[in-house]
Amino acid sequence: MRLLEVSDLTVSFPTADGVVRAVRGVSFGVDQGETLGIVGESGSGKSVAAMTLLGLSRGAAVSGSVMFEGTELIGLPEPRLRAIRGARIAMVFQDPLSSLHPLYRVGWQIAETIRAHTDTSRRAAHARAADLLGMVGIPQPRRRVDDYPHEFSGGMRQRVMIAMALALDPKVVIADEPTTALDATVQAQILDLLMRLQRELGTALVIITHDLGVIAQMADEVQVMYAGRVVETAARRTAYYHAHHPYTLGLLASVPSTVGGGRLRPVPGQPPSPIRLPSGCPFHPRCAYQMGRCAVEEPELMSVAGGAGHRSACWLPPDVVGPGETARITRLLAAGRSGAAGGTGFGGRHGRSAA
Ligand SMILES: Nc1ncnc2c1ncn2[C@@H]1O[C@H](COP(=O)(O)OP(=O)(O)OP(=O)(O)O)[C@@H](O)[C@H]1O
Ligand SMILES: [Mg+2]
Repeated sequence: MRLLEVSDLTVSFPTADGVVRAVRGVSFGVDQGETLGIVGESGSGKSVAAMTLLGLSRGAAVSGSVMFEGTELIGLPEPRLRAIRGARIAMVFQDPLSSLHPLYRVGWQIAETIRAHTDTSRRAAHARAADLLGMVGIPQPRRRVDDYPHEFSGGMRQRVMIAMALALDPKVVIADEPTTALDATVQAQILDLLMRLQRELGTALVIITHDLGVIAQMADEVQVMYAGRVVETAARRTAYYHAHHPYTLGLLASVPSTVGGGRLRPVPGQPPSPIRLPSGCPFHPRCAYQMGRCAVEEPELMSVAGGAGHRSACWLPPDVVGPGETARITRLLAAGRSGAAGGTGFGGRHGRSAA
């Protein structure tokens, strides 16, 4: 049993338009000192999965299991969840301004987080807040601790959020798009910071992103989500060099690349509505490799050839991508020389559609 183990998590929201099937049977786990990257397009269910495991999906129908340190979190009474949330499992959100109160000094907000969970004196909590700001690289932390959120830059606010997440020595930190609002340089600094802290503190880290490039340096394991499901899971190197699922290949092609002049190339087509999912494999309408059964039967995660633990929810043969093939496809696509013309697929020239 891992430190945090999510099994078959399913989350649906009843709405006036129908049932939103946001998360459909997702499983993942993470241990102390490990980094798990969860990647997928907007609406694939990443945030809902993360919020649900912290008991924050109000109004949702939830099933499955979330075991944390041997305790089942699904259905845990709110007071017990509150003791875990923020303290044992902390979350860093995409937009620091919506998580920081504009009218309170930053140090006070960090101190209150500490005092909400421990009986620490005001003075000690304030001192700890300044230490934490120093730890996340805020210059002159003793002075800055009494500044207001608007006195910090975007990157510094994100550092403050990380400081707040670390305030209670959590076992698990979930960072949901921690860098999307930041420019590339600051983004790299924040990722470096997360990596360094994770090494030093030995926390388990879950990074949620829509950009495979963000986790290329840091994830031990990568999970790709599409339409509420995990469609591929692999160790990092396997995910980048031996990806199997056509959607993962599409995400790889959309990573800004030096070869392609740094231009982002999104996966062609639109993500499906979570209320009216396509029949069969939900990716089939956008897939360059679709075969007859793809529109009929939704594939489960199956073992594929990339190595231990490499699984893909795709009907293509398990050994369809040979060593180095993904990297080659990615480079070609990034350079704009692929067979993706027509905007209905990508890399269709590489012969996998015949499989
Ligand atoms: N409270 C809610 N009620 C109804 N539908 C919801 C609710 N919260 C989320 N959804 C829907 O669930 C789906 C998954 O949303 P989620 O926020 O998890 O996506 P995401 O993968 O985090 O996307 P992004 O990259 O844009 O953050 C979306 O279609 C969203 O509209
Ligand atoms: Mg999200």
